[in-house]
Parts: sequence; structure tokens; C-alpha cells
Amino acid sequence: MDLQLLDPRDLELDLAERMVAVDRASHEHAGLELPVQSGPSRMFSLQHGNNGRPVDAVWVAGTLDAPVGWGLVELPFLDNRDLASLRAIVTPAHRRTGVGAALLERMTAFAREHGRTQLTTGAWQGTDGTGFLEAQGFTTAGQHPYAVRRLDLHDDPSRWEAVYAEAATAAAGYELVRVVGPADEAMVPDLVALHEAINDAPADEGMEPDVWDAERVRTYDASMVRRHQTTYRVLARHTATGAWAGMSLLCVDEFAPAVAFQEDTTVVRAHRGHRLGLLMKCEMLRLLAAERPEVGATDTWNATDNHHMIAVNERLGCRVIATHVGYRRQV
Ligand SMILES: CC(C)(COP(=O)(O)OP(=O)(O)OC[C@H]1O[C@@H](n2cnc3c(N)ncnc32)[C@H](O)[C@@H]1OP(=O)(O)O)[C@@H](O)C(=O)NCCC(=O)NCCS
Repeated sequence: MDLQLLDPRDLELDLAERMVAVDRASHEHAGLELPVQSGPSRMFSLQHGNNGRPVDAVWVAGTLDAPVGWGLVELPFLDNRDLASLRAIVTPAHRRTGVGAALLERMTAFAREHGRTQLTTGAWQGTDGTGFLEAQGFTTAGQHPYAVRRLDLHDDPSRWEAVYAEAATAAAGYELVRVVGPADEAMVPDLVALHEAINDAPADEGMEPDVWDAERVRTYDASMVRRHQTTYRVLARHTATGAWAGMSLLCVDEFAPAVAFQEDTTVVRAHRGHRLGLLMKCEMLRLLAAERPEVGATDTWNATDNHHMIAVNERLGCRVIATHVGYRRQV
């Protein structure tokens, strides 16, 4: 099987479209309800990543005109620099012919050459990926499964008004601020602690906390602009002191706005217990209903033992559509 190493910065839209066709076939084969990235989103996400750097390596299996699979490696560079994160996918018609194993071998060699000692990856529960990874010596030890929860927005947008009112009563003394797109420079230092608060969420064993500083906030915002993702932040502030208390962040992919992606929702430790999580998420739903009516659903990932976040999401009416199982292996 031919494997071609690509420089993501040279990736063209036609090839990105062929790569996502592999994803689409795989999701259909597995009966997964998950959204498939659009071609432009794939191209820009490989070129810009979340932190202003292209992904470290991409391989295409088969020919560039008719790929039968692809794999990628990301080497974290701000924290967790012992890890290499892998993703690979093979079109269902070409499975069990050694393509996945060939991609994995190439990805492992790349991680080793770059001094990484652990591989992390994952697969959707109940699909071919879990059998493959277990056969290749990966284990779930120390990894959290993540359930993907979907919230359908178009059923009856008014159904959150009562929840909003209840949360607003519990959170009297706090006010909400909406930030659309990149944060103003003056706000960037305050956002560092709000992004960093995600380190309190359940993490996989042995993972270093995410390192955030002002430059990372700026780079994240700039990357999202280059990826044509519009960021929506709802922030909570303690009115009397002006202290920032929490943040909920959501991204709308402008190439595929029908399903928005709910990123982190965090409440700073000192301000927990006032239903700010529920309030900020309700406020986000109001914002979407008013400004982005074409967004028909949001998807969010929760570690299956993140009980507080899950309770908020269940209260809003989310349903689980898939579960992602994390795997790791020594290089
Ligand atoms: C995981 C995936 C990439 C494997 O691709 P593949 O080309 O079929 O894998 P290979 O043919 O190289 O399989 C190598 C070995 O892995 C094991 N394996 C592969 N698929 C398996 C399955 N569904 N169940 C159990 N073992 C499996 C077998 O030991 C196989 O050898 P064999 O066929 O001689 O028995 C493919 O199933 C896929 O794209 N799944 C969706 C994406 C995904 O879950 N990726 C996870 C890795 S990031």
C-alpha cells in the first residue's frame, strides 16, 4: 500500500474533500450520527490547528486521486511533550487489508523520531477502531471515555426560558457578557484563568494540565478566524467585585453551521454552586436563537465521570449520540 506524506500547508481543497469522503463512508458504515467535517474545514484545520501550527504530519493511503485512508500525527508543543496524538481512518471497502496497520507503523516511527514516548488515540465505541487498537497493543488504562451529547435547538427554543429564569435566580449577583469572535486585547489576560479552569475537569491519567497564557489565547482566537470558525463566549462576572467567574465557549463552523461545537464550559472554583454553568449555557442558546438561527444543534464532549457537567447538559435536554474511547500505548 502506498502511503504519501503530505505537508498540510500544501493541502489542496480537492484532496481535503476526498479525505472527508473517507470519514463520511466510515461514519455511515458504523451508523454514527456524528457530523462529518466539510472539505474546507478539514483543509483549514490541518493547516492551522488550534494553536496556530499546522498538524505535524499527514499521510494519505492509496493515490491522491482516490485515497483509501489517511492518518495524522500531532505533537503537543505547549504541554504533554512526551505524547504523540494519532488519528487514522480507512474506508470500509478497504478494511482488513493491512492499510490501518501500515499507517500506524508510519505514525509510530514518526513519533519515535521526534522523541515521543507515548501514543494517544481513540475510537468510537462499538466500531472497528476499538478491535483494531486492542489488536495493536493499545489499552484504555488511565483514559476517560467521552460521551458526545447533542442538543437539538429547533424543536422548541422557548423550552429553556424556565431553566434560564431558575438559574438566573440562583446566580443573582452575577452578570453575563457576550463576546463574539476574537476577544479584545484588554480582555485577553482575564481569559487566561477562565481557559485554565478546564484543568479542574477529569483528565486522563498522567496528563499535564493545559498551559494557558495570554499568547495562547490570542493564538487560539487567531487560528479560529483562519479556520472560519466563529467563536461565541458567554462570560459570567461577579457584579460586586468585577471578578470573572466563568466562561462557556462555542464554535460555529462557517462552512457547516448546522451543528455547532460546544467547547469548554468552566466555572472558577470560588464561584461554584450558583448555577452559573447552567446559566451561561442557557444564555448561549438564547444567543444562538437570536443571532444564528441556522444552527440546528450543538455537540459537546463530556468525560463520562464529569457528573456536574453532565447534569447541566441533561437538564438542557441533551441526548448521547456516541461514545469515544481513549487508548494509549508506549512507543
Ligand atoms: C481502525 C481502522 C483504521 C483499521 O484499519 P484496517 O485497514 O482495517 O486495519 P488492518 O487491516 O491494518 O488491521 C490490522 C489488524 O488489526 C486487527 N483489526 C482490524 N480491524 C479489526 C476489527 N474490526 N476487530 C478486531 N480486530 C481488528 C486485526 O488483527 C487486523 O489483522 P487481520 O486483518 O490480519 O486480522 C479502520 O477500522 C477504521 O478506519 N476505523 C474507523 C476509524 C478509527 O476508529 N480509527 C481508530 C484509530 S485512530
